[in-house]
Amino acid sequence: MKTDPGWIFEQGAVSKLLESLGFDTPVIRFLDTAASKIAGDVALKRTFLELAAAWVAGSIPDAPAGTETEISALIAVAGYPKMLAAHRAREIPDSISVATARDLQRWITRPESAGGKWEFRHLRWLGSHVHHMLLEIGRLQFIALPFGSPYRVFHAKSSLQKTMVFAEAGLECSRDGWLEKSGDGFITSYVSTPEELRGHPVDPASGQISRATASLPACDYDMCLSRESIALHVHIPSGQPLTLSDCADSFQRAENIYRRHFPELDWRAFCCTSWLLDRELWQCLPPHSNIQDFGNLFFPLATPGNNSDQLMERVLEGTTNWRTLAPKTSLQKAVLKHLHEGHRFRTTSGFILRTTEPGSALNGRVHD
Ligand SMILES: CC(C)(COP(=O)(O)OP(=O)(O)OC[C@H]1O[C@@H](n2cnc3c(N)ncnc32)[C@H](O)[C@@H]1OP(=O)(O)O)[C@@H](O)C(=O)NCCC(=O)NCCS
Repeated sequence: MKTDPGWIFEQGAVSKLLESLGFDTPVIRFLDTAASKIAGDVALKRTFLELAAAWVAGSIPDAPAGTETEISALIAVAGYPKMLAAHRAREIPDSISVATARDLQRWITRPESAGGKWEFRHLRWLGSHVHHMLLEIGRLQFIALPFGSPYRVFHAKSSLQKTMVFAEAGLECSRDGWLEKSGDGFITSYVSTPEELRGHPVDPASGQISRATASLPACDYDMCLSRESIALHVHIPSGQPLTLSDCADSFQRAENIYRRHFPELDWRAFCCTSWLLDRELWQCLPPHSNIQDFGNLFFPLATPGNNSDQLMERVLEGTTNWRTLAPKTSLQKAVLKHLHEGHRFRTTSGFILRTTEPGSALNGRVHD
């Protein structure tokens, strides 16, 4: 494995690697030219080598002002031998390694006109691929990490379908059960004894936390997911419709890949935090939308801080002032109307419990 990032400056090395990964020709040319440019500037080359070595060792360096795009994009590439070696060690199929590596292309903005510029500002995101084994498996991407959300999930011993979620103790909630500060809200409590589980349950329809507590007989329930449990975090790349059949295929393939290539990993659920899971958003979507079908697969959970930043970025072009935005698409129009009517959007989390039956990743949730 090449750990010394100096290979980037070997004649034709960048092109050769990226061609083998099926990158588009303009992107290969851009990165190849960037490598030649940096190689020809002694100070820049030294800076690159220092930053790329830190990257390969696991940190996320900041490129010097004015050189972010070329240096950062090449730093990402400098980590690919490490990523590909890690995939090979796990015998991950080549098709998955190639798809995963090519995600870099989605984050490089290409010049649309002759005077336009290449842009890349997402080195941190590529850290998931290079350092944390993110895998693109079909339509979706997966990364095994602690679940991280402040909840305890139980299922009835009699049936995996009977799921009950309690919020952790000490969470500050608004009066209607969102995880945000408000003068008239409440603080959650949670008590577990050999006889009883008592806490604030989560509404499976919306993800809101109930102000009233509920109690379960401890002997009838198993805890199957908590903040520290390993979950497969799901990410949704842009570029293709999010059809239910593609997602079902992706979840099933992920289930098989992790079962076969990470047998030691005791992962408990798929989970996701996204603007796509926000039930408020669904009121703006046409009937039978892909987004709603996808969101419906997950048990929703209020997200700490639950703001609308992601929706603003993904739907409203990253605007800081939606009030003056002229809508260009039907979804933008519906979202702006909803905001003007005084409604709020919230990034929402959710999970799908891992089933114990091989070959049934979604536990019968998708019926073709
Ligand atoms: C996720 C994604 C693929 C869903 O697209 P989709 O499969 O077309 O979704 P739907 O079929 O449910 O779309 C319903 C409507 O909303 C529109 N729509 C969907 N996503 C949109 C977006 N990000 N911006 C504007 N409109 C959008 C669709 O064009 C469709 O409009 P129409 O009825 O006029 O044809 C798409 O939003 C996307 O590429 N997003 C970027 C990646 C992303 O957001 N990832 C999640 C990050 S956490």
